[in-house]
Parts: sequence; structure tokens; C-alpha cells
Amino acid sequence: MPAFLALTATPAVRAAQAADGSRASYARFDDATDFPGLTAADIAFIAARDSFYLASVSADGWPYVQHRGGPPGFVRALDAHTLAFADYRGNRQFLTVGNSVTEPRVALILVDYPAQRRLKLLARLEVRPLADDPALAAALAVPGYRALPERAFVLHLAASDWNCPQHITPRWTEPEIAAAMAPLHERLAALEAENAALKAGRETTK
Ligand SMILES: Cc1cc2nc3c(=O)[nH]c(=O)nc-3n(C[C@H](O)[C@H](O)[C@H](O)COP(=O)(O)O)c2cc1C
Repeated sequence: MPAFLALTATPAVRAAQAADGSRASYARFDDATDFPGLTAADIAFIAARDSFYLASVSADGWPYVQHRGGPPGFVRALDAHTLAFADYRGNRQFLTVGNSVTEPRVALILVDYPAQRRLKLLARLEVRPLADDPALAAALAVPGYRALPERAFVLHLAASDWNCPQHITPRWTEPEIAAAMAPLHERLAALEAENAALKAGRETTK
């Protein structure tokens, strides 16, 4: 959290903290702008995500947020300070790409809904043509996924912050539900088979 608050707590934010009485508990982070990098646990969390939200800022100051998704692990950690993912062909509005030209700073939030955990990140976005970097293109490829990668989004991280689980409603994806239901389906099939055998036995003894 230190770098996250050091970078985001503007004078107006600090004034709001002071007005509420929370300023004293956060003041110690004011100058802690150094980001030590992602931990192994952070990287494992990111590797399990199938989506996140990415916020950028337009040239005239409007914030913009977009959902990004792919198979679990589509966001790769290149190292403890760098993430990357393939920007897939979309509606060709290029809002994030365009915003990054005038303001590379972006914010991400990644949520694990079943575990009620969320990680916030601050980064500088570098948009890199995939043709310029075949090794990166190979690293970001997701074989079999129906999407056309058009460019690499490379995120040079500046801060991270784990949030509390408050107000995160647990939700499960279809594969997660299928995995949880599998033992029940197996049990049901066994009981149906047993029931059919019992019925058949009763028919023959009539
Ligand atoms: C045919 C098509 C239509 C789309 N329409 C929308 C849309 O109306 N709104 C939206 O938020 N995303 C839409 N998307 C998804 C976006 O194109 C995609 O999320 C892309 O990454 C957006 O990038 P940007 O938000 O930086 O412009 C569409 C994608 C495709 C392929």
C-alpha cells in the first residue's frame, strides 16, 4: 500500500482524510513512492484471473474504464515490475490506446469473487505492436482462444494495494460451478443406476 497511497493521496485527498480524522494513520505513507515489486502471491493471484478492469484518463481529464477478459492467466507477469497482455480486436474505438498517448498512467482492479479478494494496481501503459516483438507476442499468445491479438499492452507497475473483502459478492464462473457440481452429478448418476437396478429387480420378482 505505501506507494499506492503516496501516489494517489493528492492535497485534496489528504485534506479529506484530515477532515475525517484518518489523516494521522496514513501520513506515514506520504513519501513512500518506491514500489518493491509484486510478490509471488501477487503473481499467482494475477495468473488465476480471467478478467479485470482497466482505467485510463483522457486528454481532457475524463476517466475511462473498460473490462478486459480472456482465459485465466491471459495477463502475464514478465517480471515483478511488469505485466503484459494482448489487446484483442474489438470495436475499434481505441479509447485506452488513445488515452495512453497523452497520459500513460492507468489503474487496474483485479477481483477474485469466490475468495472475495481484490488487488489494485497503478501502472504506466506502453502500447507495443506485436510485430515489433515476436518473443513478447509468443509469451502473450493463448492457443485456441477465439480472439485476434492486435497489440501488446505492457504495464510498468508503480504501486499495488490489496483491498479488504467488504461488499464483494461471491460469484462463480461456469467452469468453477461445473467443477463444484461434478461430485454431485457422479453421485446422482450412481443413485439413478442403483434405482434402475432395484426397479428392474422388482419387475423380475413380480
Ligand atoms: C463487434 C464488437 C462490438 C463491441 N462493442 C462494444 C461496446 O458497445 N461497448 C464496449 O464497452 N465494448 C465493446 N466491445 C468490446 C471492446 O471493443 C473491447 O473491450 C476493447 O478492448 C475496447 O477497447 P477500448 O475500451 O480501449 O476502446 C465490442 C467488441 C466487438 C468485437
